[in-house]
Amino acid sequence: MHDISQKTYKAFVLVCENVRDDGRQSCGVSAPGLRAALKEAMKQAGLPVRVLSTSCMDHCKEGPTVAFMPMNILYGDVSIDDVPVLIAKMREYIGS
Ligand code: FES
Repeated sequence: MHDISQKTYKAFVLVCENVRDDGRQSCGVSAPGLRAALKEAMKQAGLPVRVLSTSCMDHCKEGPTVAFMPMNILYGDVSIDDVPVLIAKMREYIGS
């Protein structure tokens, strides 16, 4: 094992895109396009963050769920309309 840490990104944004196939509420069904919208907005804002798709974060009933790491902050009930607020919060957290 060797350290492959890089300094390009100051944070990661994890967007749950899990889709449950049993019909229960799941983020991927509730917010299609959320990750792409967040990724584009972070890029346009020039923020050094990486936006990633993730599976279930065990907050399905409160989803769609987005996490900021390493801040360990989770947001629930996120919609594409919340993207500007998330950009502002990320700016605040990483000091950009
Ligand atoms: S499906 Fe997104 S938190 Fe469970």
